[in-house]
Amino acid sequence: MTAQVIDGKALAEELRQGFKARVDALAACGHKPGLVVILVGEDPASQVYVRNKVNGCLAIGMHSEKIVYDVAVDPETVLEKIAELNADPAIHGILVQLPLPGHFNEEAVLEAISPEKDVDGFHAENVGALAQGSPRFIPCTPYGVMKMFEKGKVDLAGKEAVVIGRSNIVGKPMALLLINAGATVTVCHSKTKDLKFHTSRADIVVAAVGKPRFVTADMVKPGAVVIDVGINRLPDGKLCGDVDFAGCLAVAGQITPVPGGVGPMTITMLLANTIEAAERKAAAAAGAGK
Ligand code: GUN
Repeated sequence: MTAQVIDGKALAEELRQGFKARVDALAACGHKPGLVVILVGEDPASQVYVRNKVNGCLAIGMHSEKIVYDVAVDPETVLEKIAELNADPAIHGILVQLPLPGHFNEEAVLEAISPEKDVDGFHAENVGALAQGSPRFIPCTPYGVMKMFEKGKVDLAGKEAVVIGRSNIVGKPMALLLINAGATVTVCHSKTKDLKFHTSRADIVVAAVGKPRFVTADMVKPGAVVIDVGINRLPDGKLCGDVDFAGCLAVAGQITPVPGGVGPMTITMLLANTIEAAERKAAAAAGAGK
């Protein structure tokens, strides 16, 4: 068997084309969607992600800017900027690139963002809404994975799903989304005793561990859907995922590549969330004007 490859790059492009008309309609009524991305420090990977986020917005006619702080910045300065952006009517989305330097209280920073502008979906109020099954904003990476399931016509109800990784950014929200979609979900992580026991009986495997080629063909049930969230840089500079793509291609039913899989979908769903935030604002303004 050779797995069907779910092409995230093509799907991302298709979705972004569809976003343009929504952005134009919003701009025409004075609500051009605006995203601010805040970066603290000079982590090279974060710099690339932030640049891609800003450029992704600009490419479809949105407003976007990045604000970069020195790694040693006083957290108060960042909190003051967030308060200013919360009050700025031209800004619909605020994203603080994670991780933050050690002297920051990450949770306090995320809680400072207005829940209505929290396009990452990391504010406790938005995490709670997702857990209750009525999300305001779905975190971008797991949201992108759900869109890939949709594209691959993967019916999640009643399926055995294994999520490898329990981060607040991917693993936990991914598990919640799968539960909400009717899957039976197991979350595995670095302390899991027998990972292969879990993965080899899963219809769906989502790998978000950050270890190159960690999921190998012998861990995958024939015909399973394998989603690779990992982006790892190898010593030769090439990118590779958490899944041994070449090996698993022969066993899985569907699989996502790296690069060109989940990565492009993450930024696409960030654009989707920011447009959605602007649409809500425009609808509220129209309602108030009536
Ligand atoms: N760092 C890695 N992924 C993400 C993400 O989706 N959002 C933010 N804010 N930081 C990240």
